[in-house]
Amino acid sequence: PAAMKTLDCDFLVIGSGSAGLLAAIHLSRHGRVFVVSKRARTESNTNYAQGGIACVVDKDDSIGQHLQDTLRTGCGLSEESVAREILEAGPDRIRELEQLGLRFATRKGRHPDEYDLGQEGGHSRRRVLHVGDITGGELIRVLLGRVNEEPDIKVIENWTAIDLVTTGWLGQDGPNRCVGAYFFSSDTGEVLAVRAGATLLATGGVGKTYLYTSNPDVATGDGLAMAWRAGLPVRDMEFIQFHPTCLYHPHAKSFLISEAVRGEGAELIDAAGRPFMHKFTGQGSLAPRDVTARAIDHIMKSRGDPCVYLDITHKSEEFLRGRFPNLYETCLRFGVDMARQPIPVVPAAHYSCGGVIAGTDGTTEMKGLFACGEVASTGLHGANRLASNSLLEALVCAGRAAERMADYAADEDGTIEDRIPSWKYGDAVHSDEAVVVEHNWNEVRSVMWDYVGIVRSDRRLARARKRITTIREEVRNYYCAYLITRDLLELRSVAAVAELIVRSAQRRRESRGLHYTKDYPEPSRKTPEHTIIRNTPGGPL
Ligand code: FAD
Ligand code: SIN
Repeated sequence: PAAMKTLDCDFLVIGSGSAGLLAAIHLSRHGRVFVVSKRARTESNTNYAQGGIACVVDKDDSIGQHLQDTLRTGCGLSEESVAREILEAGPDRIRELEQLGLRFATRKGRHPDEYDLGQEGGHSRRRVLHVGDITGGELIRVLLGRVNEEPDIKVIENWTAIDLVTTGWLGQDGPNRCVGAYFFSSDTGEVLAVRAGATLLATGGVGKTYLYTSNPDVATGDGLAMAWRAGLPVRDMEFIQFHPTCLYHPHAKSFLISEAVRGEGAELIDAAGRPFMHKFTGQGSLAPRDVTARAIDHIMKSRGDPCVYLDITHKSEEFLRGRFPNLYETCLRFGVDMARQPIPVVPAAHYSCGGVIAGTDGTTEMKGLFACGEVASTGLHGANRLASNSLLEALVCAGRAAERMADYAADEDGTIEDRIPSWKYGDAVHSDEAVVVEHNWNEVRSVMWDYVGIVRSDRRLARARKRITTIREEVRNYYCAYLITRDLLELRSVAAVAELIVRSAQRRRESRGLHYTKDYPEPSRKTPEHTIIRNTPGGPL
């Protein structure tokens, strides 16, 4: 390939979900912004969000109650001051979204208009602002509408970030700084570099590490793996949230049935039509996700059934079509009329509560590198995220990160590092063994689903660790020998993330929140601690 193309910008935003797009809008007030996205700009976890955004907007609600629900669900590992800060900042962010043009659902016939608030697991009251069941799609439409109008924002699609470029890696003295990133273009097959005054990781989640997930294909944990390779500490990766209810159908790839359906009174029943949640918790079908997913797992395994069912047939077709138009139509396409028959559902990997350690203003341990949204661990979610708190966190922290990035660039005089070396292709050749990538992809995801899922044990984790170590070794060799492809880069990420999840899970010798192990079924009596893993310099790829 010819000499490497290098582009410059003031602010590099990696990811075009809610966090990346809102940050870009704020950053464009301070300089020229690149938003880079590895597929189409609309493709992100955000785009598929259904339930909505949790926020205190009702006069009878209070930050104190929202905080209590968040901390209770987080099982002792949420940081109270962080949670308070994010929840308090929510209402202003909601107003900003409305000014950008987002129209949350309101209750008909109320004057003045009152929000129609949804109810979800773990919330002590209705608190979730929504746009029917397509909140995320509408959010992306509105944010992108603004981004597309802004001349100082350039959105680049089909580029996959490979690695961060840091001054340490460039061999410079002084504190390590992030000065940009390398990208692989799926359109041309070339590697390019972007040099930036400040870089924001907004790459989202890790759902594709598991065989069954509610997440779209982009959720391969690339940003998390990149930050870890660059030496940043990664926290609480054992806390993978399994959403209790994804549609069970051979052709319904990752389709979520929103918790808001249970918020409207749907009940979980087994294949014999019997409700079962009351056997596990007094909160019934609206318990937090850790409890609900475990109960479903138990019922499926003990009865040998492939799924359980969600029954909302007590509601009329008119109500369901009005409140959940997208869900209703999608279920119907798969032959399920939710007004007349229970919906077959199974749990699936949904959300990463842990991530790269970051402040609520996106600051990380590395100068010039900021992180927000699902890739970051601010301390809000603890051992289990409260439903609909993640969009709130992504949006609040994105706005703050943008302000901090602008300050940082101003302090550094907007310096852009000019010595980023060309990508070394070495002796790499085109692979004639792409099947290895495909095989390892499938294997990582199956191993994680079978051994590092809802119920864990020492033996299962050890088995997973062994397999993941071998796969990582194979991926490393493959990465060095062959020209890269997006599939290979994503496999490299999911294998690294899998290792981080397994290692974190092995360190937690107790059951807490989303981490449940048969060998230590109770929470430890000691003060709960975070799990923090850091790569050793020169450590594995
Ligand atoms: P994302 O929205 O996932 O965006 C990540 C972006 O990074 C994407 O554009 C992706 O292409 C890009 N990217 C990734 N890797 C690279 C790379 N290597 N190079 C370049 N670009 C890259 N939360 C709620 O609060 N309420 C809900 O109702 C809700 N419902 C959900 C429903 C579903 C089906 C799912 C999957 C999640 C839901 N969540 C919900 C969780 C929430 O949507 C996410 O946590 C949140 O949207 C994350 O936003 P983000 O901007 O951090 O990441
Ligand atoms: C849902 O609608 O059930 C998803 C909400 C969330 O993940 O917060």
